[in-house]
Amino acid sequence: MDIKLKHVYLLLFSGMLFLNGNYLYGKKMNSYKNLMPVPAKMSVSEGCFRLDSSFAVSVNRSYPRLDRAVGRTIQRLAGRTGLFLPQSFFNVQESQDSVNFKISVSDTAKIRFGINETYRLTVTDNQILLTAVTDIGAIRGLETFLQLLDSDEKGYFFPAVQITDAPRFPWRGLLIDACRHFMPPEVIKRNLDGMAAVKMNVLHWHLSEDQGFRVECKTFPKLHQKGSDGLYYTQTQIKEIIRYANDRGIRVIPEFDLPGHATSWLAAYPKLASAPGPYHIERGWGVKDPVFNPASEQTYTFLDAFFKEMSALFNDDYIHIGGDENNGKQWDANPEIQKFMKSKGFKDNHALQNYFNEQLLAILTRYHKKMIGWDEILHENMPKDIVLQSWRGKEAMIKAAQRGYRSLLSNGYYIDLIQPAFVHYLNDPLPEDSPLTAEQKKSILGGEATMWSELVSAENIDSRIWPRTAAIAERFWSPVSVRDVDDMYRRLEILSFHLEELGLSHKKNYEMMLRRLTGGGDITALKTLVDVLEPIKNYTRHRQRKLYSYTPLTRVVDAARPDAAVARNFRKRVAAFLKTGGKNHKMGAELETALTVWKNNYKCLEPIIAASPVLWEIEPMAQNVSRCAEIGLEALKRIRKGEKADAVWLNKSANIIQNAKKPCAQTELMILPAIEALREQVR
Ligand code: ACM
Repeated sequence: MDIKLKHVYLLLFSGMLFLNGNYLYGKKMNSYKNLMPVPAKMSVSEGCFRLDSSFAVSVNRSYPRLDRAVGRTIQRLAGRTGLFLPQSFFNVQESQDSVNFKISVSDTAKIRFGINETYRLTVTDNQILLTAVTDIGAIRGLETFLQLLDSDEKGYFFPAVQITDAPRFPWRGLLIDACRHFMPPEVIKRNLDGMAAVKMNVLHWHLSEDQGFRVECKTFPKLHQKGSDGLYYTQTQIKEIIRYANDRGIRVIPEFDLPGHATSWLAAYPKLASAPGPYHIERGWGVKDPVFNPASEQTYTFLDAFFKEMSALFNDDYIHIGGDENNGKQWDANPEIQKFMKSKGFKDNHALQNYFNEQLLAILTRYHKKMIGWDEILHENMPKDIVLQSWRGKEAMIKAAQRGYRSLLSNGYYIDLIQPAFVHYLNDPLPEDSPLTAEQKKSILGGEATMWSELVSAENIDSRIWPRTAAIAERFWSPVSVRDVDDMYRRLEILSFHLEELGLSHKKNYEMMLRRLTGGGDITALKTLVDVLEPIKNYTRHRQRKLYSYTPLTRVVDAARPDAAVARNFRKRVAAFLKTGGKNHKMGAELETALTVWKNNYKCLEPIIAASPVLWEIEPMAQNVSRCAEIGLEALKRIRKGEKADAVWLNKSANIIQNAKKPCAQTELMILPAIEALREQVR
């Protein structure tokens, strides 16, 4: 067989075995088992509701937001099934008699903290009923309804179920940092759709940072003019995004990070700083010195006028004031500030920052806003209606709860760290062994995933957010007992596919980025390689090489995805095979197929790498994959024969594996632990 053809054939074969063992619709799957987040209560009956051209929806009365959501639901249903449904857009029906999907809602909700999101969804052979207290509850139920779509030899159907659902936590957020890299409105919108699909309800929009001030400000226009490189949201765009989010039952909370992380403000208004300027938009990453001057009255006059404008622009009750990572260097070095501290009896910078926060709180209160900030803002003088967002550890959240403050957990949900989904999934704001009392537990409002954007662009941000954030969304919505990691991954794969219909680019941009890396060529061999790579984790990428806001984010490391599914499935298969004592012939044969593809891949990839200089950096990794796969094959052969390996081979293979453990071009090889496990068996 032609080597290239053989490669493609083997690849398809291994792909089928490792990824497509389940198809999405059809008898093999029962869609009610795929729901994500898992509902609070569900029972399943015999029978199903068949989807055909008699399908018609009605709502007990017109709720414009719900009417639009029903319209979108029908469109998505038609899009998935190709059925010409009689209602392409939703209009409220005069009578509910002739329809087979009846929605009944008592009230429309103002989008704010703590609204009722419960719903009941009942599917029987001849009708579907969705009831909710609020239109938002019904909108949550519509997402569940869409996830229930299934098919068999007779066509599309919904299984007969009765679901009674409610969220575990009222605050289920995603932070998007639109500062370190600007995220155009369409990026925010498609991610709002993804959030709604998994029942998240808070967009925490990080809008000011050292690297950019991203909001059009009419009172102080230099903020966006001098602080953004022209990359900011106009107020019209902001209103449209808030409308779009509110339409999906999602609150939008702006974060204006103060007093540190503030270089972009000070580039526009240096007189507000604690040290003389000039200041320029920051291009590097990390904690920087520029900080507002808390001892100056003009700081508060400025911030009063600023928040007056922003309080009118953003409709949520809360505004996030940041408060994190002020290194205090400019405060220490400024004699006026030191004098001010002395006059007030402040012992340290924390006390000074607390004073600053108190002034901010008075300003926000004047404009009828509540304050939320990172855990650094915890101080005994703060009133109990502020909310703390715990990022440095769970301790701050626990301490806050014990002192009567409400808080959110973000520690453990930093999706920019490229950890696998299960790590976030098993991180529970209120685990069974939480030290908090029942009363204190009520003050844990939920949590937020944080998408800090040092290393993401509009092109690859979706692949860092999705699908892993769906696992976090489930943690916040579903009962505490829902913790089966294998089942979460099974469902995550299915959900990830459905998210694409919302325009999310986590899957499609991967191939586009690989195509660019090959210079427009065939990506088969490159994909085989990158499918088993992940970007290095935590913040090690910054330590390997100095990175800036203008550093290209188009390399292999930027295309490579967190929690690489092909590698994860391979590790799982190897573990299962070894559990059989290497005796399961079918499993062994499948592993051999996969390893053979990787072993042969270097030959296919070598000319592609040679012809594309942007890929040169990955060449050692491409070689490592082939060499390590060869080790895996040799070990596998011996395991199946019940033989041990000789010392020479063991030595040589240990060196190769050791070498392959080193990151290459900021990526790491994720099949290595499984290959080591195979080798270990023949020692
Ligand atoms: C943070 O990550 N500095 C809140």
